[in-house]
Amino acid sequence: MPSLAFHRQRRAEFLRAIDGPVVLFAGGHRSRNYPANSYPFRADSSFLYFFDRPEPDAAAFFDPADGSVRLFLHERTTADALWHGASSSFAAETARQGVAEVLPVECLETEVRRLAKGRNVRSLAVADHRTTERARRLTGEALDFDSAAGPGDPQVCDAIFALRKAKQGEELDEIRKAAAITREAHLGAMRHTREGGNEQELVGVVEGTFAHHGAVTAYSTILSVRGEVLHNNHHGNTLRRGDLVLLDAGAELASGYCADVTRTWPVTGRFSPEQAEVYDIVLRAELAAIAAVAPGVRYREVHLAAARVITDGLVQIGLLHGDVDALTEAGAHAVFFPHGVGHQLGLDVHDMEGFGDRVHYQAGRRRSEQFGTCYLRMDRDLEVGLVFTIEPGIYFVPAILADPGLRARFGNAVDWARAERFTKANDGRGFGGIRIEDDVLCTPRGAEILTAAIPKERAAVEAAVGAAR
Ligand code: GLY
Ligand code: MN
Ligand code: MN
Repeated sequence: MPSLAFHRQRRAEFLRAIDGPVVLFAGGHRSRNYPANSYPFRADSSFLYFFDRPEPDAAAFFDPADGSVRLFLHERTTADALWHGASSSFAAETARQGVAEVLPVECLETEVRRLAKGRNVRSLAVADHRTTERARRLTGEALDFDSAAGPGDPQVCDAIFALRKAKQGEELDEIRKAAAITREAHLGAMRHTREGGNEQELVGVVEGTFAHHGAVTAYSTILSVRGEVLHNNHHGNTLRRGDLVLLDAGAELASGYCADVTRTWPVTGRFSPEQAEVYDIVLRAELAAIAAVAPGVRYREVHLAAARVITDGLVQIGLLHGDVDALTEAGAHAVFFPHGVGHQLGLDVHDMEGFGDRVHYQAGRRRSEQFGTCYLRMDRDLEVGLVFTIEPGIYFVPAILADPGLRARFGNAVDWARAERFTKANDGRGFGGIRIEDDVLCTPRGAEILTAAIPKERAAVEAAVGAAR
């Protein structure tokens, strides 16, 4: 858990970066049916960045005029003590969080008006809509969590982005812990894979491993023999001979820091020659992208490093025809690698993506309109301390291979008939997809792979699959 000193320092830096008061919100409980039956509480990531294990509905008033931070928490009631157990006192929370004062959140509006002394107050939208509505009423801003245009005032977003983007030592410790739990989960799923088994039982192994360590899923687990569906959350298939299992899962700790890892393996524990060929292209692409990581390198170049290797591999196996650089520039690789190479990672699995391209695309850079590269979620020059994923893949997606626009655009550059045969391979179920995803830290010497202990070389993956039998 990041220490009090860490949180205090982060708050002090935030106070130095803003020129007027800001109220941040943790957000509250959310439910999917009866309001009192709620999901486990998860504080907004920017709130979690400044406070240790915040309470639901907590708010904080940051005042750069005197450098103070005041925390607002629910009043302690007998009924709460009865149903949920006694909470620590305001005095204890003042000390634990190292703030100037703790006040009742029931009086937030009155207290904020008093503390603001006529100054404008700004805030950020959070996932809990009732809280965002409260923030909107309090500040008069057009906050909207679901829109890239509405997370909050650009100065506030920029200040938080500037702090959160490069991960500090204590944050890296947390990500390393999440990576270790994620390793155990991936290895468990590999080991418990068996012909005739099913996807759901492997999801149980993955999420049971997270729970065993007090972690949760950082995002809905993707575990599927239909790995060509990029975010496939269906877990109903039987594992059959010839299938590839794609697992994209990461643990999130109580501190909020997480991992995001993908591995792909054959149900039988042996890649077929065709699977091995495609797997090795993806692995070479991943390693090339990782090798391209260095301070000052543009993330789009990391993406293109993976794209070039994938193009080269697809030319070698006859799925693409032509000059590798020209094909990559035209975006032909995206017929098989139709997404960006990755994204930042930290407290959010797609860290701060809610702040939009304004921060993830460096000034003067815009998202490409080219199919595939348009999904690249960031294009900044890499800096020491940035943590991000590298996750190339090759997929045989019937909808892409049948798309008239792509067929017209790439014409003879793609062997469409051959590609279509992949969608009918494996007794008609199709080849599926292969993705390999690691979490890397940009250091002065290049990439450090935080998830390196999770097997990805073909022989190591094959040795792990079915080992629980
Ligand atoms: N786990 C979703 C992603 O890799 O972006
Ligand atoms: Mn990812
Ligand atoms: Mn992932």
